[in-house]
Amino acid sequence: MTITGIVAVDRNLAIGKGGGLPWHYPADLKFFKEQTTGNACVMGYRTWLTLKRPLPGRLNVVLTSRAEVEPRESVVWLRDKQSALSLGVYLKCDLFVIGGAQIFEAFREEIDRWLVTEVPLAVEGADTFMPQDFLRGFGPRDTRDLGDGLKVTFYEREG
Ligand SMILES: NC(=O)c1ccc[n+]([C@@H]2O[C@H](COP(=O)([O-])OP(=O)(O)OC[C@H]3O[C@@H](n4cnc5c(N)ncnc54)[C@H](OP(=O)(O)O)[C@@H]3O)[C@@H](O)[C@H]2O)c1
Repeated sequence: MTITGIVAVDRNLAIGKGGGLPWHYPADLKFFKEQTTGNACVMGYRTWLTLKRPLPGRLNVVLTSRAEVEPRESVVWLRDKQSALSLGVYLKCDLFVIGGAQIFEAFREEIDRWLVTEVPLAVEGADTFMPQDFLRGFGPRDTRDLGDGLKVTFYEREG
């Protein structure tokens, strides 16, 4: 099982503002869908709240400490990182870590590859960021132009 981090960052590594995504780029959403469909997506509770419904065609794994959760089709609620990793071992698909910042941080050591979309903006008032060194130990392998000034880089762990 490969564990992939997938994230879109602005010029200052911002990823969120006011609990949501600070931009709307259909080309990036399409790329996200293409990459993650058929796989499991691990997310934090706050990122779950930004979705209108579970991501279709994917196992939605939501991490939360709360005891009361709403049963939803194709959603698994887990309380800790280790449970998500254990689940992953039994899945015949890949695990995508889709955010937000807390979840990226929690899975930092386990992520094998990163798909990073660079968004050509410097968002004013952003409140959620990737750490400056989140790609330390990773090297670029490939890039893809998504249009609208968006560039994706595929990074793999070195060594
Ligand atoms: N640009 C992008 O690619 C991208 C991707 C995803 C999200 N985002 C943005 O990022 C922001 C949200 O990020 P965030 O860091 O604030 O929140 P988050 O990581 O989405 O969710 C945080 C919540 O997840 C739960 N959690 C975190 N770590 C956990 C652990 N180890 N075990 C169990 N539960 C855990 C906790 O929920 P409880 O409090 O319920 O216990 C915590 O409050 C939003 O603005 C969103 O739009 C951007």
